Amino acid sequence: MAPKVFSTTAALLWALQATQPVQAKLEAEETDTHLVLSNDRFHTEVDKSRGTVSSLVLDGQDLLGPRSGNSGQGPYLDCYCTPSGFWTPGRSEPEFELYSGTDSTGTDYGGIRMADTYLPTGQVLEQYWFLRDGETGLHTFSRVAYHNETTPFLRNLQELRVLFRPSSDMWTHLLSKKGNYAPLPNFDNQGEWPVVQDATWYLGNTPDDPYVVEMADYFTKYTFSDPFRDLDAYGLFADGSNTEDGSTFGAWMVMNTKDTYFGGPTHSDLTVDGIVYNYISSNHHGDQTPNITNGFDRTFGPQYYYFNKYPEGSDILELHADAAQFADPEWNAEFYDSIAEHVANYVPSSDRATWKLHVDLPKNAERALAVLSQNGVDFQDNVLDTEAYQYWGEIDAEGYATIPMVKAGTYRLTIYADNIFGYYVKDNVVVEPSGKGKNKHDKRHMTHARWREETEGKEIWRIGKPDRSCAEYLHGAAPDKEHTLEPEQYRIYWGDWDYPTDFPDGVHFKVGESDEAKDWNYIHWSVFGGKANYERPETYVGTGDVNNWTISFDLERDQIHRKRQATFTVQLAGAKTAAGNTDRFNASEPHANLQYTVSVNGQDLEPWIIPYNQSSSCGVRSGATCYNVGHKFEFHPRLLKEGENELVLSLPYNATNYEPAKLAESVYVQYDALRFEIV
Ligand SMILES: *[C@@H]1O[C@H](CO)[C@@H](O)[C@H](O)[C@H]1NC(C)=O
Ligand SMILES: *[C@@H]1O[C@H](CO)[C@@H](O)[C@H](O)[C@H]1NC(C)=O
Ligand SMILES: *[C@@H]1O[C@H](CO)[C@@H](O)[C@H](O)[C@H]1NC(C)=O
Ligand SMILES: *[C@@H]1O[C@H](CO)[C@@H](O)[C@H](O)[C@H]1NC(C)=O
Ligand SMILES: *[C@@H]1O[C@H](CO)[C@@H](O)[C@H](O)[C@H]1NC(C)=O
Ligand SMILES: *[C@@H]1O[C@H](CO)[C@@H](O)[C@H](O)[C@H]1NC(C)=O
Repeated sequence: MAPKVFSTTAALLWALQATQPVQAKLEAEETDTHLVLSNDRFHTEVDKSRGTVSSLVLDGQDLLGPRSGNSGQGPYLDCYCTPSGFWTPGRSEPEFELYSGTDSTGTDYGGIRMADTYLPTGQVLEQYWFLRDGETGLHTFSRVAYHNETTPFLRNLQELRVLFRPSSDMWTHLLSKKGNYAPLPNFDNQGEWPVVQDATWYLGNTPDDPYVVEMADYFTKYTFSDPFRDLDAYGLFADGSNTEDGSTFGAWMVMNTKDTYFGGPTHSDLTVDGIVYNYISSNHHGDQTPNITNGFDRTFGPQYYYFNKYPEGSDILELHADAAQFADPEWNAEFYDSIAEHVANYVPSSDRATWKLHVDLPKNAERALAVLSQNGVDFQDNVLDTEAYQYWGEIDAEGYATIPMVKAGTYRLTIYADNIFGYYVKDNVVVEPSGKGKNKHDKRHMTHARWREETEGKEIWRIGKPDRSCAEYLHGAAPDKEHTLEPEQYRIYWGDWDYPTDFPDGVHFKVGESDEAKDWNYIHWSVFGGKANYERPETYVGTGDVNNWTISFDLERDQIHRKRQATFTVQLAGAKTAAGNTDRFNASEPHANLQYTVSVNGQDLEPWIIPYNQSSSCGVRSGATCYNVGHKFEFHPRLLKEGENELVLSLPYNATNYEPAKLAESVYVQYDALRFEIV
């Protein structure tokens, strides 16, 4: 920077400003009751009596509406992380700090930090909000810290989330990603909607509601959950019918960074249901959550709550695309480096690096992905080391991937791809920091890998596409043509898809003849209906047509003659044992560990026991990708014969568990893909 010369004109200007202050563009100020950040388009206030954002105004439009209960505020932080459960920090003994400065790009910024302590345990929650000049959104970070020698184990971080929770009726639509959006149902009519399951309503009594016409007869927040791999920006849209001047607006949570979340690219969670969430930690779809133990101290973020305004008549996808452009970990990296001094635990770019991969991929690999995560464990379980971060990047057709902004450290590399069974794993991948200033070296870490699809012999057949989801089966991702937005069917409340009607004789799949999109259901139930099923309140147990599914296939003599091993691989997109999504073992529950049996031409193989701690609440929470598990059944080909053979895939008959909440009681599995090999 050139030295500042105090010229006569500058002095004159300064004198003028001193007497007649010109409004600075970026302001950060504190009053008795509020902390205020504003620039010439955007204004926000944090209420010191609550520790939450109480006002958000863009170009004169109030985006929040008045506070009523917990509505009309945010983004604000809450958790399910104290011994008694939920806690919203900000009203115990909050401390506030106000920041202002100029970042290394010369842009002014202001920031607010709120820190509060839950007095009975000493755990600390912090929320940060930053506003830059020229921007119309808030950069947020959230921190959880626990230092308690006498009680080193507190509990799990069951939920940690930031909420933008408007009460304004300006918002008319919600969107989780480009292919999944809908009008908001008219919640004024909620009294006419029967509750069919936890947080799920039947809206058929208000058939003219635009949500019913365009999207579904049922509304559940889980319809708008998605795997984090697929998320860029999501949120609310105002079509202008209820805004001051008819302009359209958007309120978006931008996932510009994903490295401080848990569970890897397949982790999925809620995005928006009228509230725009940043779900930092939760086990909704079966992943584990970290334990809070003495020394736990992690800052999550940055994320960017972005608000945009477009002319009357603009399309929701146009506003969404504008928000999604910021979903890039390098976006605003200089700014984040500049505020690192204020944000506890933030890792500046000098302690990060760009990592590169070249992999020789198996033939037919599509949508290949490289994941860096906690060393030594499945990325789905990366909560065990609370200092580990996670990254992933798409691999191009030539096998190259580049992941920027990787925190220096030692990682497990996992590679997986659509169409390919199994995955590639390599531990101890070291990423060194790039350094800063004169010592900065653009050390590009290039890792090389050669991956071949796993094989246990000659593949005789496969069912489904290995892609970690059950999207390809009946009621999976196929569009629901009865509603004009044609949502993917698995997103709709499961009770809308009546298994006994679809499969009156059960599932009998003949390899080479049957069609997986029609003849294979997206959920394999043990028992169907009953609790939390609005259309079939009486359970349908059947006589083996629910819990037992049959696959038949033909073999020729030379396929089995003089062979030594047959392998039947089962990859599941998710499984629900009696543990649901809790990962808690309950000895009174017969199906806490779920016994999954396969019989070959009438001969049972040793069962696969799906453990309680790998259980998800998946399909009933509109999930097609949850905690993935898999197993290989191996047996001697003497169980096979020339001509037609039969495999029976069997869950225990009429197997349920106690559900305190209004949720389906049946255990179930959701297939990703199946494969039969002989060697
Ligand atoms: C540590 O935790 C225990 C039990 O929750 C609590 O009684 C104690 O006050 C805590 N200590 C501190 C320093 O907060
Ligand atoms: C959390 O602690 C419990 C109790 O010690 C243990 O069973 C569980 O495996 C731990 N979970 C994680 C993710 O560390
Ligand atoms: C289902 O299949 C298993 C395994 O072949 C068998 O033991 C059981 O009798 C079948 N029927 C029912 C109703 O579970
Ligand atoms: C599940 O529990 C078993 C037995 O306690 C343990 O060995 C295993 O590591 C756990 N798995 C996960 C994913 O937590
Ligand atoms: C299924 O199990 C329930 C208890 O969970 C029991 O009440 C019911 O009689 C059983 N039905 C059949 C057909 O076995
Ligand atoms: C364990 O299962 C039993 C029987 O299903 C149930 O009554 C009990 O509430 C469960 N315990 C917990 C802690 O969920």
